[in-house]
Amino acid sequence: MATVKEEQEAREHAVRRIEREKPALEFGSAWDYAPAPESRDHLRLEERYGLFIGGKFVAPKSKKYFETVNPATEETLAQVAEAGPADVDAAVTAAEEAYRKRWSRLKPADRGKYVYRIARLLQEKSRELAVLESMDGGKPIKESRDVDVPLAIAHFFYHAGWADKLEYAFPRHTVSPIGVCGQIIPWNFPLLMAAWKIAPAISCGNTVVLKPAETTPLTAMLLAEVCQEADLPPGVVNILPGAGETGAALVNHARVKKIAFTGSTDVGKIIQRATAGTGKRLTLELGGKAANIVFEDAPIDQAVEGIINGIYFNQGHVCCAGSRLLVQESIADTVLQKLSDRIATLRMGDPLDKNTDVGAINSKMQLDKIRELVACGVEEGAELHQSSCAIPPKGFWFPPSFFTNVAQSHRIAREEIFGPVLTVMTFRTPDEAIEKANNIPYGLSAGVWTDKGSKIFQITQKMRAGVVWANTFNKFDPTSPFGGYKESGFGREGGVHGLRAYVELG
Ligand code: NAI
Ligand code: MG
Repeated sequence: MATVKEEQEAREHAVRRIEREKPALEFGSAWDYAPAPESRDHLRLEERYGLFIGGKFVAPKSKKYFETVNPATEETLAQVAEAGPADVDAAVTAAEEAYRKRWSRLKPADRGKYVYRIARLLQEKSRELAVLESMDGGKPIKESRDVDVPLAIAHFFYHAGWADKLEYAFPRHTVSPIGVCGQIIPWNFPLLMAAWKIAPAISCGNTVVLKPAETTPLTAMLLAEVCQEADLPPGVVNILPGAGETGAALVNHARVKKIAFTGSTDVGKIIQRATAGTGKRLTLELGGKAANIVFEDAPIDQAVEGIINGIYFNQGHVCCAGSRLLVQESIADTVLQKLSDRIATLRMGDPLDKNTDVGAINSKMQLDKIRELVACGVEEGAELHQSSCAIPPKGFWFPPSFFTNVAQSHRIAREEIFGPVLTVMTFRTPDEAIEKANNIPYGLSAGVWTDKGSKIFQITQKMRAGVVWANTFNKFDPTSPFGGYKESGFGREGGVHGLRAYVELG
């Protein structure tokens, strides 16, 4: 692995550095911000976390533990139990019993009350959750505090409201739950993804076994504590940290009735093969390579903010990131100049600092993947522009970057980089924009920037993407369904559509 110094030297040679000294926008460059770290004093971290099965934290039958680290400092935060097949079996048994004896028999309104209680307890612990999320995963505190945690809570509130109104969601049907749901989530939005999975499942009367990602298990452990505090009947929510093998054991467990997975397309395909012919229900939310299309009549400054938010939010670890900028040729130079100026003002560093815009890359593995794809982009002839911001001496970091001179056949234009790296392409006509936007195996999201309402309708209708934003990007709401086309997966999460995955209709 290249040292930080080598990396910086290499960048200086191959890269067009975006300098902070001479941006046209003066606001961020005249002085440096004083550090404004969020306190971590109130955080209680256990040295070791067990598995959460049947309402209790238990030692793993596997006898295995793994470390979870802070990717910004490489400090070990805690040891976490790794669930093996026997643990998965114990959790499914606990979930099944809870389903049969308690949860599916409970009055729907009472089910809703438990879910409301979880939402309120999460609210009380917002600050602790935000700090822990940033420490375990590397995302800036302003995002975990203002986006991840409030949205996770909103999902519990929203779905609690549905618990006793499901017959209105599906008129002319009888609505019943499915049983035990196995849920596997990634590391980019750990608490939020747990909420997306658990809230609709239990509100509809199912019980769950959730597997958080191996680099970010800690907020899920705090959520388990919240379930205890909420007096949720034991076994309704079970949480099993572990890696791919734990996930596979859950997928292959015979008594799991439904699998919900968010993660890479490769693993999604494995899961689809594993569940084929078993009668298990499946929803997959996989990768993306969204087009963010900027027309010449767009409000350019707002569009630049949307581009920044689209790709540098959460270090680009976002399945629906606007990772392919399609900009109309006539305004390309202006947009790219403004984009460079804006990138020069982004502050990368300590995720717990309230002024930080770009945090740490989630893991060494992910950093290696980003570096490999970026190196491939340079080799294939694209031109790399990169922020000249300082790289902290420890931890995993990648500076905000974008590529120009990108051909559609380049790997960086087709594969999910899942980092703070934008590829920029141009177009001349709306038809060309549509063609280029859809010419990709993925179809999760897209963005359209134009001043003209009719053009918004014209373009959004033709996007083969589950979510299309107009004059905004990365806006999420529990009432709005989210999900993909093509290799981005199937099934929807959120809104009435999302409930469908967790009910049986008669
Ligand atoms: P991954 O798909 O391996 O991990 C996601 C989750 O699946 C984790 O909880 C993991 O433990 C679990 N898992 C892994 N193998 C499994 C298996 N065989 N059966 C069941 N569960 C399994 O993603 P990874 O390796 O962390 O990231 C690789 C790439 O995937 C990223 O660079 C990114 O491009 C993409 N990705 C996309 C995400 C999205 O939200 N669409 C989220 C995470 C990664
Ligand atoms: Mg971690």
